[in-house]
Amino acid sequence: MENLVLHGDFVYSKSSDDLAIYEDSYLIIENGLVQGIYPKIPPEFAGFAFHDFVGKLITPGFVDLHTHAAQYSIKGIQMDLELLPWLNNYVFKEESKFADEEYGAKVYGYFTDELLKSSTTRAVIFASIHSKTTLNFMDMLEKSGLKCYVGKVNMDRNSPDYLCETTADSVKSTKEWIERCSAYKNTRPILTPRFFPSCSEELLTELSKIHGETNLPVQSHLSENLSEVAWVKELCSDAKTYSEAYHKFGLFGGRGGKVVMAHCVHLEDRDIELLKENQVFVAHCPLSNMNLTSGVSPIKKLLKAGVKVGIGTDVAAGESLSVTENCKAAIQASKLRSHFLGDKFDQLTAKEAFFLATLGGGEFFGKVGSFEKGYEGDVVVFDDENLKSGRKFSPAERLERLFYTGTYSNVFAKYVSGKKIK
Ligand code: GUN
Ligand code: FE
Repeated sequence: MENLVLHGDFVYSKSSDDLAIYEDSYLIIENGLVQGIYPKIPPEFAGFAFHDFVGKLITPGFVDLHTHAAQYSIKGIQMDLELLPWLNNYVFKEESKFADEEYGAKVYGYFTDELLKSSTTRAVIFASIHSKTTLNFMDMLEKSGLKCYVGKVNMDRNSPDYLCETTADSVKSTKEWIERCSAYKNTRPILTPRFFPSCSEELLTELSKIHGETNLPVQSHLSENLSEVAWVKELCSDAKTYSEAYHKFGLFGGRGGKVVMAHCVHLEDRDIELLKENQVFVAHCPLSNMNLTSGVSPIKKLLKAGVKVGIGTDVAAGESLSVTENCKAAIQASKLRSHFLGDKFDQLTAKEAFFLATLGGGEFFGKVGSFEKGYEGDVVVFDDENLKSGRKFSPAERLERLFYTGTYSNVFAKYVSGKKIK
């Protein structure tokens, strides 16, 4: 098992407004789990492997709660449309290419390489409707040492012929894919109805049955764009709000498996109530929401209401796979929201963004995202020496500077459950 001592300057979130800081200290990881942080190495851990990162800033691993690996090749282009035409004109065509295993291997290879370079240690990922290429992708992730949830996507209506399965095929291929996933340890399956408009009531009912029988988690999209919200209300006339449409099919939490919904920009009070009651996670995707002119999610309001929130990169609507860049975007978007609404309360601080990206999203994976005793030994070591300056910074300032000015070149080392993967 992984027994380690790491030396450096540690920062982690205790809560959304409480930052724990331990400079020039020693983090003990025993059997892959955090044992504690000490000013000196306690004698009982003296035999553990020692990794000296003196002067470097060390945080829990960053968690990406929502991204699309099959859209990796179209990030940074075609960003001038809103959600529904963007999906219909560009995204569905690109994802249909993943029927080809060779194309899939190439793109998923690039995606996995970049994820390894980044500060992300865990991610929740959409693949495409194609089970075989999805399994090939899961093979790659398993070898990388990252810990991820991956979803074979389900779509059986309102989708082009070239990216649509029959209901029966979608259910059958999902069940077969889940069986094949038992081969993996670190790469776990997640049920993935794309979003309400692309799944028939019969398909949602079948996925809900699997969710209930297996306790597998669920990922989807919720209230991203106003035209989408209006469409869902047309499609599901007995749901008063978007989340009620998922809830009606048992796909909105309150059962065994966890649920994460991306975006949650345009929420009604009933949606917030259901998110809270059913402990559904919100993946806040600020870059994506700005690029597709979707809006800005009311993150402070959600945190205050006790809703669980993390950060999602949402590639390709988000142009960057970097969670730290999305932390910066979350702060900046919240400032515009507060400015236009005339309410300072909406502003997110760097401390709050860090919480979302570590402990907030980490909870989706269990005890992840903190250096409190018993948490998984997921660690990122940042070298910020190259961010030249004539002065010295506090650990909180160094973290903020990494959000605003850092790149992957600052990610010096990375551990998942105590195992060094970079
Ligand atoms: N809603 C349904 N599918 C998608 C997608 O691929 N990206 C985004 N941003 N929203 C979606
Ligand atoms: Fe998405």
